[in-house]
Amino acid sequence: MSAAGFDAKYRLFRHIDIRTPDLDWFVALNPQVSRIADFGCGTGTETLALMQAFDAAEAIGIDMDAPLIAQATDFLGHIKNAAKIVSIRAGYGNAEHREWWETRIPEFVKGLVLDQIPAGFREGVRERSVRFIEADISRPVDGVPSDYFDLAYCNKVLYHILCDDGDSKVQSAVSQMARVVAEARWVVAVEPVSCGPEGGHTVDLTQFFLRAGLREWPAAYRGIEPQGVLRRYVYRKVSGA
Ligand SMILES: C[S@@+](CC[C@H](N)C(=O)[O-])C[C@H]1O[C@@H](n2cnc3c(N)ncnc32)[C@H](O)[C@@H]1O
Repeated sequence: MSAAGFDAKYRLFRHIDIRTPDLDWFVALNPQVSRIADFGCGTGTETLALMQAFDAAEAIGIDMDAPLIAQATDFLGHIKNAAKIVSIRAGYGNAEHREWWETRIPEFVKGLVLDQIPAGFREGVRERSVRFIEADISRPVDGVPSDYFDLAYCNKVLYHILCDDGDSKVQSAVSQMARVVAEARWVVAVEPVSCGPEGGHTVDLTQFFLRAGLREWPAAYRGIEPQGVLRRYVYRKVSGA
């Protein structure tokens, strides 16, 4: 009952509770992902779902669409605000909010509001950060370091760039994904296999990852064959990429 009460009162949390079905197999590998860069993050719900799935410390979401980045930033603000309210009500002795704080607020969200919650709620909570940035992913983005992230991720973005803008721009975007990940860390994309719903131009992005100096993760397609309308690309950065 209490969980249902929380869901009814703080509906927005359900959006970050979404699973990332295209990535469940990757999460199951337990790849120790603490820093995430979501390329073409749209409204950012998947960025937050990834934070949740990996219990990560830090994430950035990058998208060139200003209204989508504004929406992502707003949503993040609402989530943080709701978490603060739950902690404050719990701090006043509201048992239901206490239970919600303990069982329903994701750990990473607690870490996002660490400096804004009553002192009694801070113990054991690790500081986290999420930022959304309006930028073109095919160029180096200001303030986004090289060799830093554990996962550079892309969901249904590269095919847009390939189909609309062609090879050279998609190569630049993939090279930026390779740039920002640390050595031996992951570059993963989930992309449609064609440009349009009716089929049309076939999309195979393999060459762009290889040209960026990335190494295909050999087990990527064992048991998770490219299938249906989406294909997974799983690479790791090797030294000098
Ligand atoms: C189909 S949406 C996917 C959004 C998100 N990854 C998701 O799965 O919910 C594609 C996104 O890619 C973004 N995008 C396309 N080309 C881009 C570029 N060159 N730089 C940054 N974002 C781009 C679009 O603005 C859009 O938000």
